[in-house]
Amino acid sequence: MSVRKILVTSALPYANGAIHLGHLVEYVQTDIWVRFQKMRGHECWYVCADDTHGTPIMLRAEQEGVTPETLIARMHGEHLRDFAGFHIAFDNYYTTHSPETRFYSEDIFAKLTQAGLIEAREIEQYYDPAKNMFLPDRYIKGECPRCSAKDQYGDSCEACGAAYAPTELVNPYSAVSGAQPVLRASTHFFFKLSDPRCQAFLRQWTRAGHLQEEAANKLAEWLGEEGENKLTDWDISRDAPYFGFEIPGHPGKYFYVWLDAPIGYMGSFKNLCAQKGLDFETWWRADSQTELYHFIGKDILYFHALFWPAMLRFAGYRTPTRVFAHGFLTVDGAKMSKSRGTFITAASYLAQGLDPEWLRYYFAAKLNGTLEDIDLNLDDFVARVNSDLVGKYLNIAARAAGFIAKRFAGRLLDEEMTARLRTTLPALFGAEIEIATHYENRDFARAIRRIMALADDVNQYADREQPWKLAKEAGKERELHIVCSLLINAFRLLTIYLKPVLPHLARRAEAFLNVAPLTWKDAAHALPPAHLIQPYEHLMRRIERKEIDALLAANRETLQAPPAPTRHGEHRQHAENKRAETAAREAPTSTIGLEEFAKVDLRIARIVEASPVEGADKLLRLVLDLGPLGRRQVFAGIKGAYDPASLVGRLTVCVANLAPRKMRFGVSEGMVLAASDPTGETPGLFLLAADAGAQPGMIVK
Ligand code: 2FM
Ligand code: ZN
Repeated sequence: MSVRKILVTSALPYANGAIHLGHLVEYVQTDIWVRFQKMRGHECWYVCADDTHGTPIMLRAEQEGVTPETLIARMHGEHLRDFAGFHIAFDNYYTTHSPETRFYSEDIFAKLTQAGLIEAREIEQYYDPAKNMFLPDRYIKGECPRCSAKDQYGDSCEACGAAYAPTELVNPYSAVSGAQPVLRASTHFFFKLSDPRCQAFLRQWTRAGHLQEEAANKLAEWLGEEGENKLTDWDISRDAPYFGFEIPGHPGKYFYVWLDAPIGYMGSFKNLCAQKGLDFETWWRADSQTELYHFIGKDILYFHALFWPAMLRFAGYRTPTRVFAHGFLTVDGAKMSKSRGTFITAASYLAQGLDPEWLRYYFAAKLNGTLEDIDLNLDDFVARVNSDLVGKYLNIAARAAGFIAKRFAGRLLDEEMTARLRTTLPALFGAEIEIATHYENRDFARAIRRIMALADDVNQYADREQPWKLAKEAGKERELHIVCSLLINAFRLLTIYLKPVLPHLARRAEAFLNVAPLTWKDAAHALPPAHLIQPYEHLMRRIERKEIDALLAANRETLQAPPAPTRHGEHRQHAENKRAETAAREAPTSTIGLEEFAKVDLRIARIVEASPVEGADKLLRLVLDLGPLGRRQVFAGIKGAYDPASLVGRLTVCVANLAPRKMRFGVSEGMVLAASDPTGETPGLFLLAADAGAQPGMIVK
C-alpha cells in the first residue's frame, strides 16, 4: 500500500461563540476520518483555527471593554479546551489572526489583482452616523418591505422569508446604536467571479468529482445553464473600523473575514510546517500530488465550492481534492433550542460528567457521508450507548477476562490463535476491508452497523459455548481456555475497528490487552500464543437518562447574557442558514393553563450576600433571604451586568421550587428572574424588583 499525503481541515469556528454539539458533529466526523487515515499508516495532517476577524468580534470586544486580541485569545483557550475534551486531535489549532494568514491573504489578493480579477468599485451602503461605521446587513434592522414584520434583519425576513437589500427595509435602524442609518459611498474591492474564466473553471471543477452528488447539484443550480452568467462578484473588503487585516496600499480598507477565513487553512498549515519541518509548497503548489479535504457544514458550501477553488486556482495554488459537506444537528427531531435546553454546549456536556466518547459513538452511528441532517434522539442515545458499547462490545471482554486471570494466570492459549479464530468466527477478520471502505467513504453509520453485527456474533458464540458453565465442569479446562482466548482476541479485533471513533476507550483496552497502540494492520492477525493480558477493570459505565435531563436543565437558558449576532450573513445561502444560532430568536412557546403557571412558586427574596464565583466569568453567588422559607444559595448569570456590592439589600423575585442544581461551584437552590433581549440587540440584563412594602417570602402570582 502506498502512503498517501493527506491534509484535512474542519471549518474554522468563529471566535465569538462557544463550541456546542452542533459544531461537534463536524469535528467528530473529521477527527474520526483523520484517525482512521493515520491508523492506516498514511501521512495525514489535520489543521484548523479560530476564525477571529469581523465586525461581531470587534463589537463584542468593545462591549466587554477588552481588545479584540484579548477576546480572541480567551476564546482560543476555551475552544481548545472543549475540543480536547472531545478528543479532537488537531495537528495544529491556530488562529486567522496570524502572520501566516496575513501573508497568504495579501499574496492571494495580489495574485488575483495581477490576474485582473480584482476590481475597485464605489458602492453605497448604510452607515451608522452615531457609531461612525458602515453597517453589515445583519446590523441593520427595520420593517420587512414585503410583509411589514417589525425588527427584521437587513438581508432577509424571518417572518415571511423574503430576501432583500438592506436599503429596501422600511424605517431602518442600526442594531448597534439604534440610530437611523444614512447611505454613504465607499470604495470596495470585488473578486470578479462573473469573469468568463471563473465561470468556465467552476463549471468544470464542480462536475469533476470534487463534490458529493447533492452538493454538485446545488452548484449546478447556482451556476445556471451554460452561457448564463448567474454568479455575482464578491465584495471582499470592508471599511474601518474593522478587526482584520488592512489591505496593503489601501489604508482604511480591510480584507473581509470570509476572505481570510479559508486562507486560515493555509495559515494554520504553514505554521504546522514550521513545527514539523514540512514543505508547504509540496502541499499547496498548483500541481501538488497531495490530497486536500475540507469538512464543512452545508451552509458554507457556497464559499468552499465556488469562491475558494476559484481564489486558489487564479492565485496559482492547488484546489481541494474533495469538499465534504454534512447536514445540521437536530435534537429530538427539532432545531437546537435554548429554551428547551437542547442548545447544549460542549463545556456543559463535559461539566456534567458525561463521557465524550458516548457522543462520538452516537454521532458516528448516525453519520453517513451525505448532507442529511443528523438527529440526536436523547432516548435513543442512552439506549444505543448502553446496549452497543457496554452491553455488546465491552461485555465480550468482561465475559472472558476473569477466567483468564483466575484460571490461566492471565495467559491466553499457548497456541496460534489466528487460524482458530478464522474458522470459529470467520466474519471477524474478513470484515476488515469492508469496514475500512465504509470509514474511507465517511459512511460511519454503516461501519458501526457492521461492527455491532460482528459483536452480536461474538456474543452468540459465548452464549453457545457458555464459559461460565465450562468453568464449573471438571475436565473442561482446555475448552474454557479456548473459548476465553477467542473472546479476548475477538474483543481486540473489535477494538481496532472502533478505535477511530473511541480513541480513549481503545487506549484503555490496549492497556488491558497489554499491547502497543493498535493500527489497522493489526487486524490481519491475532495475539501471539501465550500472550499475557492485564486484569480487566470496567472500561466504560452505563449512561442514565436522568443525566441527560440534568444536562438539559443546565443548558436551559434563563439568566445567561444574550448572545451577540454571530453571522456574517451577507453571502450565506439564507434558506440553509439554519445552524442553531438562530434559536435565540424563537417565537414564544405555546400557551399554558393557570394550573401550570401555579406550579411555579415565585417568591420575593432579599439579596443578603453577593459575590463573584472563582472560575466562572458569568456567575454571581447570591444568598437570598426568603423569609419563612429561610435562606438559599443561588448562582445567577448576571455578573456582566451587576456589581455584586450594589445588589446586597435589594428585593427581587426568586423561583423557590426549582429543583436544586448541582454546579461545579456548589448547589444552586433556585433562580432569580431578570429580563434580557434574546436577540442581543439591546444588551444587558435587568433584574426584577418589587415595589416598596414587599417582604421576603411573599408569594408572587
Ligand atoms: O461558518 C463559520 O462558522 C465560519 N467561521 C467558517 C469558516 S470556514 C473557513 F472558511 F474557514
Ligand atoms: Zn416579511
